[in-house]
Amino acid sequence: MKSTLPDFVKIVEVGPRDGLQNEQGIIPAEVKIELVNRLSDAGFSAIEAASFVSPKWVPQMATSIEVMAGITRRPGVVYSALTPNMQGFEAALAAGAGEVVIFGSASEAFSQKNINCSIADSIARFRDVALAAKANGLRLRGSVSCSFGCPYQGDVSPEAVADVVARFRELGCDEIDIADTIGVGTARQVHTVMQRAIREFSVAGLSGHFHDTYGQALTNIYASLEVGIRIFHSSVAGLGGCPYAKGATGNVATEDVLFLMQGLGIATGIDLEKTVGAGQFISRHLGRKTSSRAGNALSLKKTV
Ligand code: HMG
Ligand code: MG
Repeated sequence: MKSTLPDFVKIVEVGPRDGLQNEQGIIPAEVKIELVNRLSDAGFSAIEAASFVSPKWVPQMATSIEVMAGITRRPGVVYSALTPNMQGFEAALAAGAGEVVIFGSASEAFSQKNINCSIADSIARFRDVALAAKANGLRLRGSVSCSFGCPYQGDVSPEAVADVVARFRELGCDEIDIADTIGVGTARQVHTVMQRAIREFSVAGLSGHFHDTYGQALTNIYASLEVGIRIFHSSVAGLGGCPYAKGATGNVATEDVLFLMQGLGIATGIDLEKTVGAGQFISRHLGRKTSSRAGNALSLKKTV
């Protein structure tokens, strides 16, 4: 097993999309815009800001056009959007997304529940999106849900994950996310699944997308670092959850990930204090305490 830790990791901030998509009360576009602007000001180079999916399926994301139109674009920042089909792609292109995300699943059951089609049909649909992304010079990212377990079918094999990773590689993905949608993965399984995925796709382009339902996300990030993964997704204030994965909680909190990286001497290019501020901003708006342990501790320290 490779055990040298890197000097730098890329953090993809998914709070404005994965974080907020599951909120019941509709959050005004202005609030989402301020959140994205605060995050770009904190130094994130990759922000998942929007999702062009059916508003009947995910009403919270219906403001994606306004959000993309209202944000202050910082040079060097890639603003990405979820695009399940060509309708989503056209909207993302018109909105000025720099990267589009096709999202499939290693679990047949979850694919049906989340995007209403089989894995094979989803890949066929994604092919058009992939071709259009390339033709328009956009980055293409693929997300593999349920890589460590599925809320509907239970176990998911590393082979099933590897198969979707290979399909995404063939579609020309620049980056592929190995996602623990329901946060059930543990460190040894992370080694196994990531090492299997690395056989299908360049390790430099693989990322870990961990939800923290069982409190394993930081450990799983460390386990991923051990096998060479250098890109991680997180949500400020630990926001989030997928509406089609009942009971699954938010992504690992960005502030906690930054605190971990700081301690390991791994650069991220992101300002932790400003990120804590962004987490406090959105938590205030949602009327609840941040789910980030580090975010909470650091803001308490400031007030004593
Ligand atoms: P469908 O019903 O099979 O699609 O849904 P359809 O093509 O038959 O269209 C039905 C209706 O949806 C039509 O409208 C279309 O116009 C509309 P109607 O004629 O009934 O008024 N429609 C759209 N509207 C806006 N934008 C679009 C779009 N496409 C169709 N792009 C579909 C298929 C994929 C659209 C639907 O299942 C869907 O929107 N699913 C999205 C589910 C979702 O967003 N889940 C959360 C994101 S994934 C996630 O969180 C996991 C991740 O974080 C990684 C991890 O943690 O695992 C990424
Ligand atoms: Mg997710």
